[in-house]
Amino acid sequence: MKEIEGRKEVSILVRSFYEKVRRDELLGPIFNGIVEDWEMHLERLTDFWEMVLLHSGPGAGKFNPVPVHKEVDRHTGSEIDQNHFEHWLSLWETTLQEHFEGEVAEFAKAHAHKMAHILFFKIMEGRSVGGHRM
Ligand code: HEM
Ligand code: HEM
Repeated sequence: MKEIEGRKEVSILVRSFYEKVRRDELLGPIFNGIVEDWEMHLERLTDFWEMVLLHSGPGAGKFNPVPVHKEVDRHTGSEIDQNHFEHWLSLWETTLQEHFEGEVAEFAKAHAHKMAHILFFKIMEGRSVGGHRM
């Protein structure tokens, strides 16, 4: 078991996580239907988590995940629900548990939960004001 200390570990985390996501019966079809360039996606998500977890890397200012997930919801016919977020979080925690220990790994779990609440709330809010999706 290792601690998450640098971009190398973040990259392992992101790549192992998305391998699970792509094989997940609920999430796999959604991701595989939207992401066209997986290598680019994985590097981008590594930038994101390196920024969140280690405050380093080229991610600063590059992300605005709320509109992205409203768009994902629209793309899937407004059918994202708690179940999708539960799958996402459970794969994230399993991946972390398989590879890492320590404070940063614990923060990665906690922060994903916080993001899930915000993203889910914003998706629902976006639906109820139908048409105004930003
Ligand atoms: C540069 C990127 C980010 C960094 C470095 C960061 C870091 C942090 C830190 C240090 C905390 C406080 C943790 C704690 O006290 O337990 C936090 C809380 C939180 N973060 Fe982030 N975060 C980032 C991006 C985001 C994004 C994109 C979202 C949602 C879309 C988000 C949602 C939240 C929420 C909901 C909380 C809890 C707020 C609260 O307890 O009052 N964060 N974040
Ligand atoms: C707490 C849970 C989640 C977190 C922290 C998270 C985080 C992110 C981030 C940071 C991005 C990159 C945004 C960008 O490129 O600017 C992203 C993209 C994406 N997310 Fe999530 N996500 C979560 C849950 C979900 C769920 C539940 C789904 C599907 C049901 C999902 C589907 C996607 C897809 C398809 C993309 C790629 C969008 C595109 O490239 O156009 N995410 N996510």
